[in-house]
Amino acid sequence: NTATPDFVIDDKIVESIFKPRNEFSHKGTYGKVTIAAGSYGKVGAAVLATKSALKTGAGLTFTLAPKCGYEVLQTSCPEAMFIQGGENYIDQFDIDETSVCGIGPGLGTVLETEKSLLKFLKQYPKPLLLDADALNIISKDEKNLKLIPKKSIITPHPKEFERLFGAIKNSFERIELARKKANELQIYIVLKDHHTQIITPEGNVFYNITGNSGLAKGGSGDILTGIITSFLAQGYSEENAAIFGVWFHGKAAEFAAEKYSKESMLPTDVINEFGNVFEELN
Ligand code: APR
Ligand code: MG
Repeated sequence: NTATPDFVIDDKIVESIFKPRNEFSHKGTYGKVTIAAGSYGKVGAAVLATKSALKTGAGLTFTLAPKCGYEVLQTSCPEAMFIQGGENYIDQFDIDETSVCGIGPGLGTVLETEKSLLKFLKQYPKPLLLDADALNIISKDEKNLKLIPKKSIITPHPKEFERLFGAIKNSFERIELARKKANELQIYIVLKDHHTQIITPEGNVFYNITGNSGLAKGGSGDILTGIITSFLAQGYSEENAAIFGVWFHGKAAEFAAEKYSKESMLPTDVINEFGNVFEELN
């Protein structure tokens, strides 16, 4: 489909998307986020996604996580509220519809989590963000793809993409398959890679050019989940939240690399550079 235009996410696009904070505002202005993440041994994924939502400006942030994550979450993210969703893994997605949810980092794929996630998706009426193990659970049966609410955003890395939609030979085939699936399912697909691409339901492809190999570390994707979910909750459209979120993530990584090097920078350091990205935008 060569007729469809492609876009590089440049400063112009980002400036047209970014909404500066209004001084006459309150926490209700900036939305509610619920991050559903974590399982025994992977509570860090919930911490990273939650912190990212907090530090990108969401009004209220909740974390739905298993009990084993309670202390670490309340200690590392005191601004977020904890909702217990099980003992060592999540077994109920009791998410109120007034928030925007990001589901998946470190969830694990045990049967109880699978059953409860599918049950939740069957009745959930709003767009949401699905990542990591939420996508791995959906991949278990092709029929599950239809459960993804329309206009949702999914953020697979290349392996998760293949699990969802089948094997492909190269990145060109991947984009073509993504265009087809984004249209069929009416969802936004964020194909995470060195140059991440965002594919819209209409078939437009936005290429991101921020970021660096310092992001090639466990936890970098969990941060992106928190960022995009937070922008969604703050009223950015699905398309703008995905584009701005991916760009923002890469930009913060550039600041972190300058300070710590690509080798040493950690996902936590990337989160701590969010303020510098906002300063540059404001
Ligand atoms: N250049 C630029 N960006 C990169 C690079 C690179 N060389 N390498 C990785 N990134 C970015 C990707 O674009 C993406 O945004 O870092 C992020 C990596 O995301 P994931 O692959 O989801 O990585 P991670 O956070 O480690 O995932 C952790 O998710 O893959 C599942 O279950 C798996 O436990 C794992 C969890
Ligand atoms: Mg990941």
